[in-house]
Amino acid sequence: MNSTNITEKLTDNVLAAYGNIENPRTQQIMKSLIQHLHGFIKDIQLSEPEWEYAWDFLARMAQFTSKDRNEFLLMADVLGASQLIEIMNHQRPSNSVGYALGGPFYRANAPLRARGTCTASDETTGKRVIITGTVINLADGKPISNATLDVWQAATNGFYENQDPAQPNMNLRGKFKTDDKGTYELIALLPTPYPVPTDGPVGELLRTAKRHPLRPAHIHFVVSAPEHETLVTQVFMADDEIIHTDAVFTASDNMVGNFIKDGDHYRLNYDFQLAEGESICPKAPIP
Ligand code: BEZ
Ligand code: FE
Repeated sequence: MNSTNITEKLTDNVLAAYGNIENPRTQQIMKSLIQHLHGFIKDIQLSEPEWEYAWDFLARMAQFTSKDRNEFLLMADVLGASQLIEIMNHQRPSNSVGYALGGPFYRANAPLRARGTCTASDETTGKRVIITGTVINLADGKPISNATLDVWQAATNGFYENQDPAQPNMNLRGKFKTDDKGTYELIALLPTPYPVPTDGPVGELLRTAKRHPLRPAHIHFVVSAPEHETLVTQVFMADDEIIHTDAVFTASDNMVGNFIKDGDHYRLNYDFQLAEGESICPKAPIP
């Protein structure tokens, strides 16, 4: 038997060994995983030192993973896998705002804030942006009352409040409701770019690839309403150059807003469209 036949036989043996999984979806996933994993190893002719490097790299990723941080999820983000999964599972028409990954800093149970109030504490440095708009039904354009906008963002030092003991609990986070005309109003911080964590193996990869670690300035939104599919998105700034090189491949033209200067603050008008369907809220990585 030549070496190709020997390797093919091994792959076939492995596929057969995992061929009796009862759940059809699990069976399909395992079959494809084994085929792609073995195909990848053969394709690049993985050497022993490279294999040792790989499992050491994975072990180091595990060391950087805790209840507050998941280096594996961050790796999926910087490889574009997280955003690929989102856009594949939430295809939306080109005239509606795009679906974005939620990211590791989404936190459940943000406080419900009154219309027109600010998510930032008075001590939070940075310019403010008054954001107004309407939540509308994607199919017929009708406004959706009593929709919830769950908003969060980083401070100008690049840290979300849960990463930064200097910020009050739930700073720069809040939930807002639409009124009976489907409109909302809130005040947020003018967003600024910040780096993804680079002190672990993901940072090593970014440096190896000569990629910058920055996320373009953005504000996160989860927009939900009964009997409508939840929209997870991020709003970026129209003239931000970094949009084209987002460290996590999320920013795109269908998530851009016009932030207009108005004296000492900014204004943004931004509508969100929701498709009819089941209202399922994404799992928050931070409780
Ligand atoms: C964020 O935008 O919060 C984020 C997304 C992916 C990785 C790191 C941060
Ligand atoms: Fe973010």
